[in-house]
Amino acid sequence: MTADIVAADGIAQPDTGPAVAGAEAAQSRLLRACRREPVDATPIWLMRQAGRYLPEYRALRERHAFLEMVKTPELACEVTLQPLRRFELDAAIIFADILPPLESLGFELEFHEGSGPLILNPLRRAADVAALSASEGDEGWSFTLQAIRLARRELGGGAPLIGFSGAPFTLACYAIQGSGGGDFAVARRFMMNEPRAWHAFMDVLARLVGRYLAAQVAAGAQVLQLFDSWAGLLSPADYREFVLPHSRAALAAVEGSGVPLIHFATGSAGLLELMYEAGGDVIGLDWRVDLEAARRRLGEGVCLQGNLDPVTLLAEPKALEARAVAVLKSAAGRPGHIFNLGHGVLPQTSPDNVRRLVDLVHEWSVGSQGGADG
Ligand code: CP3
Repeated sequence: MTADIVAADGIAQPDTGPAVAGAEAAQSRLLRACRREPVDATPIWLMRQAGRYLPEYRALRERHAFLEMVKTPELACEVTLQPLRRFELDAAIIFADILPPLESLGFELEFHEGSGPLILNPLRRAADVAALSASEGDEGWSFTLQAIRLARRELGGGAPLIGFSGAPFTLACYAIQGSGGGDFAVARRFMMNEPRAWHAFMDVLARLVGRYLAAQVAAGAQVLQLFDSWAGLLSPADYREFVLPHSRAALAAVEGSGVPLIHFATGSAGLLELMYEAGGDVIGLDWRVDLEAARRRLGEGVCLQGNLDPVTLLAEPKALEARAVAVLKSAAGRPGHIFNLGHGVLPQTSPDNVRRLVDLVHEWSVGSQGGADG
């Protein structure tokens, strides 16, 4: 379906323009599932579907640093399309990262081989919040907007393009802690000790995220995902008080845009109702919650995304198939399910297993929603 959209040498097909592409993509499985309409087969895309498990990604990474790839629209567009040339995925996700938008607030970001992101000047004192640049410009993300425009042109009327942002809480975790991993104790202690400064900082981040998401819609993103990757670290009471109002404000900036919103966190089993209250047409689940139980808790009014353990893609094909089918069965053929992993594809994953999974999800689910012509 998608393999011939872009020639292997990367030469663009005739430019049909985003307007035409948008009308066709509106019929796509992914967009229909977001609206809980019946589909001909369950749509599937994978978080981190572009990345180090693909040899063609590693080949580019030998010549370019990670942030250079993110900040060069032609390279970001190329990496966005790489997995779609191999697999019959139902969406592309723009190649970017959640952290570069922090640079427009004055944070200095570096990625070091093997150790993940670093913020060189983390926010550590309440007084630092007032000093944050209140820039309303888009200098922190113009390269991603351009990558979105290029990718939309290349995708034509094929798979819809997902834009994304980190959620205010997950961005605050990195901005205060300065690095990832662990339990973000420095960031969460700041939240507990300095509630006023915390809320002031989260206000700044919510506005930043709202502007960033709206700019991605204007550039052509057809679905948006808010990554609140580390929200599962919080108690429900802390999530409600310190996070929910800010995620809601960020999502409200794009709620009337007609673009479906996916709200994702890991370890979120204790927070599902609160995340839904904060906003989103789709709730993204990790594998530690049962999909059917999540459906019972949230009701039929929401689409669910997930939720296969990413380690399943390292397992024997038989185990992979059984577990993928179990996820499909727990979705019970009801409209409003997007198949995904519960977190990103691991770098040691074999592309053959990704192909197995994508094909199995489509083949197994064909006709399971009563022969809709999606
Ligand atoms: O999903 C996709 O294919 C789109 C691309 C994407 C990346 N990062 C590319 C990436 C997306 C959606 C992200 C989001 C992101 N980035 C999150 C939220 C999702 C999640 O994983 O929880 C977070 C927390 C980050 C911050 C970040 N970026 C970390 C912690 C790391 C290092 C971890 C690692 O896997 O090495 C990155 C680097 C990163 N972002 C890579 C990719 C492909 C690997 C970089 C490389 O090529 O060396």
